Amino acid sequence: MEHKGIVDEVLGCRGIKKTFTTKNTSKEVVGGVDLSVKKNEFVVLFGPGQCGKTTLIDLLAGLTMPTEGEVFLGGKKVSRPGPDRGVVYQKTALFPWLTVEENVKYGPKVRGLGREECQRIAAHYIELVGLAGFEKEFPIKLSGGMKQRVGIARAYANEPQVLLMDEPFGHLDAQTRYVMEAELMAIWEKEKRTVIFVTNNIEEALYLADRIVLLTNCPTTIKTEYIIDMPRPRDYVDPEFLRLRQEITDTMDKSM
Ligand SMILES: Nc1ncnc2c1ncn2[C@@H]1O[C@H](COP(=O)(O)OP(=O)(O)O)[C@@H](O)[C@H]1O
Ligand SMILES: [Mg+2]
Repeated sequence: MEHKGIVDEVLGCRGIKKTFTTKNTSKEVVGGVDLSVKKNEFVVLFGPGQCGKTTLIDLLAGLTMPTEGEVFLGGKKVSRPGPDRGVVYQKTALFPWLTVEENVKYGPKVRGLGREECQRIAAHYIELVGLAGFEKEFPIKLSGGMKQRVGIARAYANEPQVLLMDEPFGHLDAQTRYVMEAELMAIWEKEKRTVIFVTNNIEEALYLADRIVLLTNCPTTIKTEYIIDMPRPRDYVDPEFLRLRQEITDTMDKSM
């Protein structure tokens, strides 16, 4: 099924809902979400803990199917996961028996690209994420931040139409987190991609986003949206940054 309504849309969804049903219970977690993401836009889904962010991003990735509504990628209805959507999770599952380079090459290899092409792609993205020199290391030797860099390189290496990131820096200590936010912005400025990034950290949202989509408590819906046009790199203590931080924090639902 084609969806031609929205110009420039890379990823979108119309009226998606998700209800989890077990034998005795039924819980609506996503309560009707419409979203349209443009090419090279950096959208942050920001909402309270347990509101349904992961459920929503899994729907957008095609990892689960909505109970109602539809997800579109490049105008086509999504019905399963695919390499056209790169996913980076909080805990990136790298193959522990493969080196950094082999992890990054894995996707291109599965897609059937030739050896030299895989090599070229891996070298390029490993350099982009600042891991040149670590190609032959195994994941166990890497810090948390470095593992997430490999995760980002691996997602980029598949050249997906959209990158979906679910709290990728959520497990990192505060200092490493700031470094990774800056790194991700530098990577994205160098090679723009369409990104949907989930966080429950308002500073992270404001540092990264072109647009912040504020989600309600569960069952989650879109409460409101903010276009963030502060120049980059952003300053966490800039008066406009602090003003928006206050405004959005005041507007958001309190975690239940
Ligand atoms: N597979 C599932 N079955 C039943 N309930 C689920 C399932 N996945 C998530 N939930 C429920 O949905 C709510 C939101 O979860 P989640 O999407 O992980 O929130 P967030 O990522 O915003 O913290 C939670 O209350 C959780 O228990
Ligand atoms: Mg989550």
